[in-house]
Amino acid sequence: IRDTSKDVAGYVADYIVARIKVFKPTADRPFVLGLPTGSSPLGTYKRLVEMHLAGEISFKHVVTFNMDEYVGLPRDHPESYHSFMWTNLFQHIDIPPSQVHILDGNAENLELECQQYEAKIKEYGGIELFLGGIGPDGHIAFNEPGSSLSSRTRAKTLAYETILANSRFFGNDITKVPKLALTVGVGTVMGAREVVVIITGAHKSLALAKCIEEGVNHMWTVSAIQTHPFSMIVCDEDATLEL
Ligand code: GLP
Repeated sequence: IRDTSKDVAGYVADYIVARIKVFKPTADRPFVLGLPTGSSPLGTYKRLVEMHLAGEISFKHVVTFNMDEYVGLPRDHPESYHSFMWTNLFQHIDIPPSQVHILDGNAENLELECQQYEAKIKEYGGIELFLGGIGPDGHIAFNEPGSSLSSRTRAKTLAYETILANSRFFGNDITKVPKLALTVGVGTVMGAREVVVIITGAHKSLALAKCIEEGVNHMWTVSAIQTHPFSMIVCDEDATLEL
């Protein structure tokens, strides 16, 4: 628990950098990092960019897999997760574009796209560290309430709460928010060797309480983290309101 979301961002960025350094990635043995979008990781990405520009960390031998992407939103739409990731992180660091993986929400065959994504993760020997955020309904990636805890990458219909929460990025117009997304599964996230989840803000406090103080439950999919042997939730004081 850190005082503010800014402290959370600093802590998580320092932690990721430390993990990459200890791993000592090379071209043959890259560090495979899972990444989220949303406002939760924004401060962390900002700090990672600062550390990169200060010469403290290189991403040359880092491979990334993003958690999710909207279906049907053009790749260059300002709210696509492609745009988000390039704007907020990738364009500012030295990661080779060929090492960035983001699901293609405009693929002709969405099922095949998801299968190939899983295969690619496997090809790299799995994900070393999956960083995540959650929605106020406790979803991790786009694994909405009711998702199987062993789910893998697939298309998922968004819950009304998520459409409402994300409408703030679409001029508060829920009709403009895509209703379908591609997302890694809960099983995909939990398959990573390490999972780190950022939870900040009072509006996430119920989800945090459900996640850690109640049982593992597919209605609050982030609660699956209880079963992971090497995981951490980094939250601010506001998020602890219901604990
Ligand atoms: C979306 C994303 C999630 C993210 C969530 C929370 O639903 N698919 O991966 O964790 O938003 O977003 P924020 O961090 O903006 O609250």
